[in-house]
Amino acid sequence: MDKIFDVAVIIGSLRKDSINRKAANALAELAPAALKLSIVEIGHLPIYNQDVDENPPAAWAQFRARISIADAILFVTPEHNRSVPAALKNAIDIGSRPYGHSAWSGKPGAVVSASPGGIGGFGANHHLRQSLVFLNIPAMAQPEAYLGGADKLFDAQGKLVNDGTRKFLQDFMQAFGAWVAANRRA
Ligand code: FNR
Repeated sequence: MDKIFDVAVIIGSLRKDSINRKAANALAELAPAALKLSIVEIGHLPIYNQDVDENPPAAWAQFRARISIADAILFVTPEHNRSVPAALKNAIDIGSRPYGHSAWSGKPGAVVSASPGGIGGFGANHHLRQSLVFLNIPAMAQPEAYLGGADKLFDAQGKLVNDGTRKFLQDFMQAFGAWVAANRRA
């Protein structure tokens, strides 16, 4: 049987009705069979403090362990003040420590950003990509995914309302499947 890749999905929004959570759910439905997406929650993680890492909170340890066993990482995030939301940056920092033991290193990744605004979270998407370089997460370059006007993309049940976006996200996930297969750790 072909390998199934475990993709940890990190959502940059903590909001109950988050557009980005709807987008993450849509991506999970549209993913090729070789990718099994599961959302890894970040809202409960205490803010990172290196002093506390001498005796880390259970939530940090569990998060690091979960990321460590993932084959790949998919980030789906809003933009906060043209950058990455604090909760997402906190999760990234927690996963990156202790020094020399980053849970992220070498796992292929991709970034999707969604916003009601016209530029679709471009600033957050690219600030995040800057961190991914340092984390040694090879991030898929193309296709890029900036979902603008994203408050109009889902119905009350969180389902995509137009075929064009569905096709775009399906193609995105196909490309990500190929990216993960080509860049997975030996
Ligand atoms: C925002 N929002 C926002 N949108 C954007 O396109 N660019 C931005 O820089 C910001 N900045 C920003 C800062 C803060 C603190 C908040 C709370 C919001 C609006 C944002 O895109 C909107 O709230 C989305 O609905 C957030 O995504 P979720 O939570 O629906 O996934």
